[in-house]
This record gives sequence, C-alpha cells and structure tokens, in this order.
Amino acid sequence: MMQTRPFGRTGWQVARIGFGGWAIGSAWGAVTEADSMAALHEALDRGVTFLDTADVYGDHASERLIARVLRERRRRGQDAPVVATKIGRRLPSQQAANYTYDNLAPFVEDCLRSLAVDVLDLVQLHCPSTETYYRPEVFAAMDRLQREGKLRHYGVSVEKVEEGLKALEYPGVVSVQIIFNMFRQRPAERFLALAQQRQVAVIARVPLASGLLTGKFGPGTQFAPDDHRQFNRHGESFDVGETFAGVPYDEGLAAVEELRPLLPAGATMAQFALRWVLMHEAVSVVIPGARNAGQARMNVAAGSLAPLSPATMAQIRAIYERRIKPYVHQRW
Ligand SMILES: NC(=O)c1ccc[n+]([C@@H]2O[C@H](COP(=O)([O-])OP(=O)(O)OC[C@H]3O[C@@H](n4cnc5c(N)ncnc54)[C@H](OP(=O)(O)O)[C@@H]3O)[C@@H](O)[C@H]2O)c1
Repeated sequence: MMQTRPFGRTGWQVARIGFGGWAIGSAWGAVTEADSMAALHEALDRGVTFLDTADVYGDHASERLIARVLRERRRRGQDAPVVATKIGRRLPSQQAANYTYDNLAPFVEDCLRSLAVDVLDLVQLHCPSTETYYRPEVFAAMDRLQREGKLRHYGVSVEKVEEGLKALEYPGVVSVQIIFNMFRQRPAERFLALAQQRQVAVIARVPLASGLLTGKFGPGTQFAPDDHRQFNRHGESFDVGETFAGVPYDEGLAAVEELRPLLPAGATMAQFALRWVLMHEAVSVVIPGARNAGQARMNVAAGSLAPLSPATMAQIRAIYERRIKPYVHQRW
C-alpha cells in the first residue's frame, strides 16, 4: 500500500507518489500518445491519486490526455484523482502587473475546457516573477476565481525558496510546488518545516533532476533537439534550474557515481532518489515525470521501499555539500 498524506488544508488525502505530466505534453523529445496514455493508466492503476499538468505542456495537450484517461476510467467506474494544473506562462511576460483577474480568468476557462470538467481541483500560478508574491491583488484575483466556483483550490509553483516562504503568508494558498531532490536540498533547511506548520501542501517536482538521478546517463548521452535537456541546457528558453535542477551536466554525472554505491539492495537509482524525497515528512506528494508505463510502474514502486538509514542520509548530504551545493544552493 502506498503511503498517503493530507493535502494541506483541502481535506484531500493523496498518495505520496504522484505523476508529473510535462513529458507527456511537450519539451522532452518524441513521446507517443499511446505511451502517454499507458503511463497515466499505469500510474493510476498502481495507486497514484495526484496528477500535475499545465496549460503550456504542449498547448493543453497534456491536459487533454488526462481528460481522456479520466473519461475512460469514469466509464469503468474507477475513482478520479486530484488534477492540478498551472496557468500564467501564456502571459506576454511573468511580470507581476500581468497577473490580473482579467488576464487569468480566460486561462482558467481554457483549462476547464481542456480537462473537460466544470471545476478545476487545483490551479497553480506557474512560476511568476518574485515581485508577484508581493502583490496581494494577484492572490485576491485567485480568491475571486475560487468564489466564482471555477476552481476548488489554488496554489503556486515557485522557482526560489524565498518565493515559497512568501507564498505561505497568503491564507488562500493551499500548496507550494518546488524543486526538491538530492541535488536541491535547500528547501529542507527552513521551507519544509514552515509549510508543514502552516498546513500548506508541498509538491516536490523534478525529483529525478530531469532523469540525471536515474543514473542512466553518461558523458556521451545525446538528447533530441526538441528535448529541453538539449535546448535549455543553459537556460535559453526558461529558468535553467528546471533542466537537470540547474546542476552542470558533467558535475551531476560525477555526483551520481558517488551516490551509486549507496543504493539499497533491489532498488533502482530512480527509486532511491524518490525515496530520499519521501524521507521528508512535509512533502505531501512527489511528482516524477514518466514517458511510458514502465517508468510510471518503477516510480510508483519507490513508495514501498524501506526508509533510508540515517547514515545513508548523511552520506547523501555530504555528497551534496561537496559536489553540488556551490552550483545551486544560493541560486534558488
Ligand atoms: N515550473 C513548474 O511548475 C514545473 C517545472 C518542471 C516540472 N514540473 C512538474 O514536475 C514534474 C516532474 O519534473 P520533470 O518531469 O521535469 O523531471 P523529473 O521527474 O525529475 O524527470 C522526469 C524524466 O525522467 C525520466 N524518468 C522518469 N522515470 C524514470 C525511471 N523510472 N527510469 C528511468 N528514467 C525515468 C523520463 O525522461 P527520459 O526517459 O526521457 O529520460 C522522465 O520524463 C513534471 O512532469 C511537471 O509536472 C513543473
């Protein structure tokens, strides 16, 4: 049985391993519709109850696939998961002044149509600029959309720890999505405890550092031109922290080789990386992306691994301190 957690103050109870819906939408090279559908079904069949997506993942393609899967499952009488989407990246820029009710409301309507629902479960502001968190009127706009019955709850997806801390101050924010993995440990210093204290759900994204922490890459690995691991390697299209968690590729590979001997018997590197995230009680749900059913199955299985020992946790921390921290710690 997969562990579950209350999702902040929403009253929802979610399985701690969820599903990230970016790769099934866009920016990860070729992913077939059949594989995407199979990945979603596999995850849900194995107990996942939380899906993350966004309007910009393939111009609503990821949302439409999720809608199809939910329709198929409804026909079979299966329970619906919580679906979290995101809006705001279709604004002309992520400057705070753009996050008005008039600009955001049409995005919400588009998501309602793509997901084929009357009310959205959770809408997250998709990495707005830092200044946005200092504008209460932005959160008032989200309150209004909630009052109008367009969304059940709203949250934010942040780039930086400080944005997450600031977001916790708004009573309407039920969740914060943040990059948290063996290569991004700063949220564990202060943010996670505060979020837990305020009963705000934490969604841990990019848990595999875009696949780097699966241990399957080498110095010669090639990525397709339409894969962000090729086209955003240096932050050419969006925040470089979203690609390999912002860790220089070769440094990441070297750190993975130091982590490898710590692998628990019978676990894959990907499962080890996911189990590390789940060692942090404040994490409500971790959302690994998966491009096919096999990956989805392996990722869910991480939920049944035994806890990592304090010695292993300390060794992982030491590798982070020595090899990774200088590249990421003060940047996000
Ligand atoms: N700004 C935001 O709000 C934001 C940004 C980024 C992500 N997210 C969300 O967070 C989710 C997770 O992050 P992510 O997808 O960027 O990165 P991730 O979860 O760290 O890595 C996902 C990728 O790793 C590979 N993989 C997954 N499971 C595997 C397994 N068991 N064995 C081997 N390889 C495996 C797959 O790619 P390959 O097979 O191609 O290697 C997969 O697409 C996203 O899907 C999205 O929902 C949100």
